[in-house]
Amino acid sequence: MALSKLPFLLILFCSFDLSSSAFTSLARGYSLSAEKPAQDIIVSQNGIFSAGFFEIGDNAYCFAVWYTEKPNSQNIPTVVWTANRDQPVNGKYSKLSLSHAGNLELVDAGRIQTWSSRTESHEHVELYLNDDGNLVLHELQGTVLWQSFDSPTDTLLPGQLLIRQTLLVSGRSESNRSSGFYNLLFDSDNVLSLLYNGPDVSSSYWPVPWLVSWQAGRFTYNSSRVAVLNPLGEFSSSDNYTIRTSDYGLALQRRLTLDSDGNLRVYSRDLSQRKWYVSWQAIADSCNIHGICGPNSVCSFDQKNGRKCSCLPWYRVKNQNDWSYGCEPAFTLTCNKSESTFLELQNVELYGYDNNFVKNHTYSNCETLCIEDCNCKGFQYSFDEGSGQFLCYTKIQLRNGEHSPQLTGVTYLRVPRAKSFSSSRESVKKDDHICDVQIYREYIKKHVNRFSYLFLWFAIALGAFEMVCILVVWCFLMRTNPKSGIDQHGYQLVKLGFRKFSYSELKEATKGFSQEIGRGAGGIVYRGLLSDQRLVAIKKLNEAKEGEDEFLAEVSTIGRLNHMNLIEMWGYCAEGKHRLLVYEYMENGSLADCLSLNNTLDWSKMYNIALGTARGLAYLHEECLEWILHCDIKPQNILLDSNYEPKVSDFGLSKLLNRDNLKDSKFSMIRGTRGYMAPEWIFNLPITSKVDVYSYGVVLLEMITGRTATADIQAVNGVDTYNGRLKTSVREKRRVASWAEKIVDPPIGTDSDVNKMKVLVAVALKCVEEDKDARPTMSQVVEMLQCHDTDP
Ligand SMILES: *[C@@H]1O[C@H](CO)[C@@H](O)[C@H](O)[C@H]1NC(C)=O
Ligand SMILES: *[C@@H]1O[C@H](CO)[C@@H](O)[C@H](O)[C@H]1NC(C)=O
Ligand SMILES: *[C@@H]1O[C@H](CO)[C@@H](O)[C@H](O)[C@H]1NC(C)=O
Ligand SMILES: *[C@@H]1O[C@H](CO)[C@@H](O)[C@H](O)[C@H]1NC(C)=O
Ligand SMILES: *[C@@H]1O[C@H](CO)[C@@H](O)[C@H](O)[C@H]1NC(C)=O
Repeated sequence: MALSKLPFLLILFCSFDLSSSAFTSLARGYSLSAEKPAQDIIVSQNGIFSAGFFEIGDNAYCFAVWYTEKPNSQNIPTVVWTANRDQPVNGKYSKLSLSHAGNLELVDAGRIQTWSSRTESHEHVELYLNDDGNLVLHELQGTVLWQSFDSPTDTLLPGQLLIRQTLLVSGRSESNRSSGFYNLLFDSDNVLSLLYNGPDVSSSYWPVPWLVSWQAGRFTYNSSRVAVLNPLGEFSSSDNYTIRTSDYGLALQRRLTLDSDGNLRVYSRDLSQRKWYVSWQAIADSCNIHGICGPNSVCSFDQKNGRKCSCLPWYRVKNQNDWSYGCEPAFTLTCNKSESTFLELQNVELYGYDNNFVKNHTYSNCETLCIEDCNCKGFQYSFDEGSGQFLCYTKIQLRNGEHSPQLTGVTYLRVPRAKSFSSSRESVKKDDHICDVQIYREYIKKHVNRFSYLFLWFAIALGAFEMVCILVVWCFLMRTNPKSGIDQHGYQLVKLGFRKFSYSELKEATKGFSQEIGRGAGGIVYRGLLSDQRLVAIKKLNEAKEGEDEFLAEVSTIGRLNHMNLIEMWGYCAEGKHRLLVYEYMENGSLADCLSLNNTLDWSKMYNIALGTARGLAYLHEECLEWILHCDIKPQNILLDSNYEPKVSDFGLSKLLNRDNLKDSKFSMIRGTRGYMAPEWIFNLPITSKVDVYSYGVVLLEMITGRTATADIQAVNGVDTYNGRLKTSVREKRRVASWAEKIVDPPIGTDSDVNKMKVLVAVALKCVEEDKDARPTMSQVVEMLQCHDTDP
């Protein structure tokens, strides 16, 4: 045929690119080459769309259709269709040819056919790009052999039908256009839906999965299964789902795209702006999109910062650059029941994968159900207002996790019991050196010079002559070892009333470390009696910093802090591997001891303890030039002197402990004690002084109720859990009239006691707000408590 021998119609499109010529069609026997991606382009008659080779990576090309006009924000055109998204071709020798047999073939360099239209014709055929963006292979009489509109990739153009046989498949990521995990299609109920089709699992997330189709406004009995976006901005589907874009009615360029984040959006563009904007999207809260953060993670969303993924506690991220891989456990769990424990996560729900669903179970029944099943990874136990019952769901997989203040569900995560929370622990927090002490070295608080007291004491006890001897010996020691930086430090510290002790001295003082009085972060505390008859508490650190200089620098900063509600450090010992801290001794032990002994505290003492602790913390947070976070407020760390004046201990410890050996793993630690930890730790949110406020609030709740944050839970199966219920129960009881008597532990005496108790409850509940911004600062707490402190 003579017609088929016609050369290409060469047309110069001056309006788009002066340097490149483009074709309006491709005839039989001709081809477009990937070697000339700028010239071998077919352009629609109106110039809006172009088809050709599109470079998607280094020397990797796809045959695609795109909007000729690039968005002004970037240099990459907006692609609307791709022939070979999962099999890009080489930039050399690859071409798209229309064979004499009428087949459109994409052939890679090695003569491998990567894609074809699978058509055949003996007539004259031509490939055209229509004005609507449809790439069409048709015979001269008009019979359409193949069209790109029949095999959409991730985009529907106005007028393009989504039908029974077709679906949209999202891209893998914003930069990777190969097939991703999200599909838009008609399900078997004729409902247009979004499906997460991940590597391991698949689930539908739109319309809202827990609604029946008709509740979601979908009609299931129209089996024609067709959906289309019209040019004015109305998208309608045969299941009676219709939406209009926010700019409906305007003549704009529009496209409906299933983005790589699983959200379906309509984009609009006013050519004068050249920039696409979203005029409609299917899902407002992107955390509702399944699989978005991968397994074993939680998603949180806010309007300002968008979506954020973080691993569940005890899990670690698999691939920081691609959250679709989610997190993996950083522990191994055996089937042994006594090795598991549960971590309570407030406002967290994990959708799906419920192995069991039981109504009206008690908490302990629900927990037993999970712990008896080796495959149970955790459970959700929530109160359902509708039925007035507790619902229990046990989970065999932890997926589609979401954290939001609006979610009322509580998830209990199964974790190993082995490691203790009060020491260090792995987590996803990537940069939590925030808790490290940061204060100015130069800063020396106006300070009672303890050395002057010491001096007096020595002078009286030993006499002036002996004192001179000591000084002489000391000067001699200094001179024999003039280069030792440690002695230099030692000297300066002595000036501040701070001492270096020898290990043997402390060993003797503690009678060979025989009288243990407590265990806390980083070490064991022993009671000791110094040779000068002072009672001391000596803490033996078990994982302290190796370097003596470094240790000393930190000790000296902590030693300089001085406040009546902070425990005083009298000295330290750094010898060989031994690192010890010497503190003043507190006669009445810790608040924890008092609480467990019941009734040793009345309301007035309790109030004073709350106020004093708040003052100590406020000083740490605000009065130091740079704030210090304590990060481990709990009754064990609030010590009481002979007058029940509280003193906060263990502050600044994180600086002294040796965490460097954990640096090669990607994870550092959550600090704190289960039961007292603020939600920020768990959800990988910024750590501020409000974490201490939260822990302080929990301590107040314990004081008020006489229950410890963990003890009431420990009763169940001998398995302890994360806190939260203490708070919830106080909140709930407070709603009832005459609540006061129901929640308090020390019996209320006078009216003034009632008032104090009410103030404490109010302050406590403010401190334990989930949202850190809703919590007061420590100095605001001091103010609130002070203005109700009517007692002299
Ligand atoms: C794009 O994603 C696919 C599928 O996950 C992967 O095989 C391919 O390597 C990715 N391409 C790039 C350039 O990252
Ligand atoms: C089914 O949907 C199509 C397309 O929306 C519509 O034209 C048709 O009238 C519907 N049929 C019924 C029975 O509702
Ligand atoms: C479709 O929706 C419209 C309005 O939303 C409603 O009036 C109509 O009854 C629905 N049709 C069907 C078949 O459900
Ligand atoms: C389960 O673990 C506990 C504590 O680790 C151990 O004492 C017990 O022997 C174990 N039981 C079995 C059946 O392995
Ligand atoms: C829930 O269980 C309790 C006892 O276990 C029973 O008294 C109560 O009637 C049950 N409630 C419902 C709604 O089934």
